[in-house]
Amino acid sequence: MVNFLIFGPPGSGKGTQSVKLAEKFNLVHLSTGDMLRAEVAAGTELGKRMSSIMSKGELVPDEVVIEMIAVRVDNTKDSAGFLFDGFPRTVAQTVALEKMLNKRGMRIDLMLVLDVDHDELVSRLVARAEQSGRPDDKDPAVIENRIDVYKSKTEPIIAYCRDRGIYQPVNGMGSIQDIFNRLCDQMKNYPQTPLKGG
Ligand code: AP5
Ligand code: MG
Repeated sequence: MVNFLIFGPPGSGKGTQSVKLAEKFNLVHLSTGDMLRAEVAAGTELGKRMSSIMSKGELVPDEVVIEMIAVRVDNTKDSAGFLFDGFPRTVAQTVALEKMLNKRGMRIDLMLVLDVDHDELVSRLVARAEQSGRPDDKDPAVIENRIDVYKSKTEPIIAYCRDRGIYQPVNGMGSIQDIFNRLCDQMKNYPQTPLKGG
């Protein structure tokens, strides 16, 4: 199995690209943001507790997302690997993910980091607010806070992964298709990944 992290600030295109990459490379796409929003939408106890944190653009507690991911990793069989989107978000989550994968004889093979200008991030999220219904897109101050939280709590993971030789920056500016092609160029170097057409 081959496991990828897709990484980058809010609005950098992690979700958009993950859907396409998971399809092409037969990977299981695991997005903690999507999982948390599903809990909120279903009105579960967990969702109720997490929704106010998410609508402020703060991170939910590490143990909540680590548990969500552990359940998915345990329950997934017969895939070529995982594509983690929006997880890990802290160095503590990264260490937990490595342990979880190592226990199963796997590792994080590559971290793909989408580099996108600040103004482009904001304009994508403001545009999405029109239709997404995401409370964290509605308020420009929350968008800025999400970007600040990324810089202070999430970006340190880059140095951690660089030390492990798995860090790969990718230009995240331009058309969705051009960025997808750049990501594919990196991922296709992993020969155990079965390639589909397209
Ligand atoms: P999460 O759902 O992960 O959100 P995020 O990181 O803020 O990022 P987004 O999903 O907004 O952006 P994206 O990079 O996926 O971009 P997208 O493809 O959507 O997290 C939400 C919240 O949940 C967090 O704030 C936190 O509270 C909590 N949470 C989640 N995971 C957690 C964790 N591990 N630990 C703790 N808390 C956690 O694109 C954005 C928009 O741009 C879309 O409209 C898209 O159509 C458009 N777009 C994409 N690419 C392009 C392009 N090339 N050109 C023009 N437009 C584009
Ligand atoms: Mg996303």
